[in-house]
Amino acid sequence: MDLDDLQILEGSKREKARIFIFLLLTFLVEQSMQLSLKHPLHGVVDRVNENGGPYLGLLMTFPDEEDALLYSGLFVPNSDIPWVDFSGRRFNIGTVHGTDVIYVMSGEQRLNAGITVQILLDLFKIQGIVHYGIAGSVNDSLSFGDVSVPKYVAYTSSWKWMESMSEKGHMPKLTFGAYNFPVKGKNLLAMVEFEKEQFFSAGHPMKEVFWLEIDQTWFDIAGMLQDVKLQRCVNETYCLPNTPKVVYGLRGSTADIYLNNAAYREFLFEEFGVSTVDEESDAVVKISRSAGVPCIVFRGVSDLAGGGGNLSSISLVSLAAINAFNVAVEFIRLIGKEKTLKLK
Ligand SMILES: *[C@@H]1O[C@H](CO)[C@@H](O)[C@H](O)[C@H]1NC(C)=O
Ligand SMILES: *[C@@H]1O[C@H](CO)[C@@H](O)[C@H](O)[C@H]1NC(C)=O
Ligand SMILES: *[C@@H]1O[C@H](CO)[C@@H](O)[C@H](O)[C@H]1NC(C)=O
Repeated sequence: MDLDDLQILEGSKREKARIFIFLLLTFLVEQSMQLSLKHPLHGVVDRVNENGGPYLGLLMTFPDEEDALLYSGLFVPNSDIPWVDFSGRRFNIGTVHGTDVIYVMSGEQRLNAGITVQILLDLFKIQGIVHYGIAGSVNDSLSFGDVSVPKYVAYTSSWKWMESMSEKGHMPKLTFGAYNFPVKGKNLLAMVEFEKEQFFSAGHPMKEVFWLEIDQTWFDIAGMLQDVKLQRCVNETYCLPNTPKVVYGLRGSTADIYLNNAAYREFLFEEFGVSTVDEESDAVVKISRSAGVPCIVFRGVSDLAGGGGNLSSISLVSLAAINAFNVAVEFIRLIGKEKTLKLK
């Protein structure tokens, strides 16, 4: 509910709505004060939550991605408490385009990303998680430098070995012998079935999930970013053949696998219709959704996973990170604008 809605309500109804919003905010604040009174950071974390927020949590995973933010100069650190160090990560407090943001570099792979989102949500007053980074492409129609805003992400490295090749399952299967070279056949790795993962969230029984859907409202807001100017040139002398673009609604795969294999790339594309692979997105979305907090993913294509393209010898990591960051920043600006409109 925003304040415009409040204007329409009269008298006691409006009073009730105010009390409701007050209780909701109190709940949000209390929910984020999980540190025991004895914890040395208790006071600092309280101050961060009292002085600002609710914050957008901005998460990237490794230094090239953080550099995109640092070189942009768009992050303005808080003058009172510029950061809080916790569990080996630095939670940087500040603003981007006037919106309160806490950014953190999580480290690579799912566990690092997931745990960092959990810490953000447990310690701070967070309104949502914005995640950006690079990705490998498994879809030939994507171009280097494009930024994918997936609608679905899945964890694709939970496998169960099938006891016999004839066993029936419900999920896609990978038959290793089908990739024997030079001729297909059988081999001792036999066949695995992809598995769903257990998903826990407050107020619901455990569910097994494969595809996680991105929050519709945030996805719609991201849909307004088609014209964000993306970088085409690596340096003064080398530019991509076409200007990269923002692509919406594709599927992303996450696994603790650095996918550098063309055959597996094609398998993922054909079986699951995924367009990008990375090692964190699914974890970021899963933990956010567990807590009922919106989350959006922006992944810039840095390479064709498993090679084969003509550009694979050129490092596009930094260009891909910058492009993903540029879209993420515009998203933050839109979220900030929405909030200002509501408060007017
Ligand atoms: C592959 O990428 C293209 C270009 O963005 C897109 O139109 C197409 O739907 C993608 N394929 C799948 C299976 O998602
Ligand atoms: C790679 O370059 C070769 C020679 O320039 C060209 O024939 C081929 O179509 C290119 N392949 C791709 C995927 O762009
Ligand atoms: C520009 O980038 C290309 C591709 O990475 C590289 O080969 C070239 O040396 C770079 N040029 C300069 C001036 O840095």
